[in-house]
Amino acid sequence: MLKRPFIFGGIELPSNVFCAPLAGCSDLPFRRMTTAHRPGLVFCEMVKMDALVRHDPGTYRLLDYEADMHPIGAQLCGSKPSLAAVCARICEDLGFDVIDLNCGCPVDKVTKDGSGSGLLKTPEIIGDIIAEMVAAVKIPVTVKMRTGWDNDHINCVDICGIAKRAGASAACIHGRTRSQGYKGPADWSHIRACKEAFPEFCIIGNGDIFNAKAAEKIFLDTKCDAILVSRGTFGQPWIVEDIYRQLSGENIPLKDGFSYRDHLLEHMQHIIEYQPERKAVLDMRRVGCWYLKQAIGTRKLRESLNQVKTMEEIRILIENYAWHEVVVAEEMVEVEA
Ligand SMILES: Cc1cc2nc3c(=O)[nH]c(=O)nc-3n(C[C@H](O)[C@H](O)[C@H](O)COP(=O)(O)O)c2cc1C
Repeated sequence: MLKRPFIFGGIELPSNVFCAPLAGCSDLPFRRMTTAHRPGLVFCEMVKMDALVRHDPGTYRLLDYEADMHPIGAQLCGSKPSLAAVCARICEDLGFDVIDLNCGCPVDKVTKDGSGSGLLKTPEIIGDIIAEMVAAVKIPVTVKMRTGWDNDHINCVDICGIAKRAGASAACIHGRTRSQGYKGPADWSHIRACKEAFPEFCIIGNGDIFNAKAAEKIFLDTKCDAILVSRGTFGQPWIVEDIYRQLSGENIPLKDGFSYRDHLLEHMQHIIEYQPERKAVLDMRRVGCWYLKQAIGTRKLRESLNQVKTMEEIRILIENYAWHEVVVAEEMVEVEA
């Protein structure tokens, strides 16, 4: 299960517990929080291939990272094999350790040109894109996919075969179909089927890993080689360390209200350093909600966060809250983005 270190694609990672790409969420301040807990690999949010070759500054900003965030992966979203090599080279030149191809984004705007989970309908293009990327760079190339477009078109096993033949070092399977969006439980049996079909191929399990027990269960149920924690990192950047403890048979210390307060203030400081005030306030509403949803008795604070207009007001609210009255949920609840 837990491997520390974890060798894959010819590189050595600190472990086989990874933190996911999360569009609009896994920005630099967020990654400062998660990488403090030493995941095996962390991803920036997806970037569009077209925007990367256009040298769009906003897109490059999504790829901002700091030296101590290594090992770090970039994720490309696009459906044109002709752009794959140049984009992969850009990511390698930016210093990324891994490049992933997004075959999971369910958003209409993305799938309508065949990108994201739209690629699940054209598996041969996935093979072409991966082959171009693999030929262009020395770093490992991976693919992250949903199980299929819908229940009648589950094809993750086929796509794993295509990705492996094209030279990918790993495939990450999110156990939901595109038509499911994020609703309903992830079906891990498809992750297991991929592992059974390709025992020698690195399979990364993903979906519904909201706490350390779920991490252990997905390893046991699917026999996957590594796991990718996604929404489970929202408001609990320490989850990777909880998982390390669970998989090493150690006790997981319970957090109290003050611990949530301190992490929230730390995350807030990273946001202040990275974003202009207006954007920082909006980000804090979202980020604050993640942390506070885990802590029972914080509804009033969540409501107030949505009303104040400056970071200073937010700091005062957080610092003056009655944290000693807060009870922390024993197991993380699902948090919306
Ligand atoms: C807000 C949000 C943004 C996401 N952005 C990305 C992304 O950029 N790239 C990607 O491959 N998956 C993305 N995902 C999917 C997650 O990485 C993950 O596959 C999915 O949430 C299932 O895992 P979970 O049930 O543990 O959250 C996103 C999910 C959410 C909720």
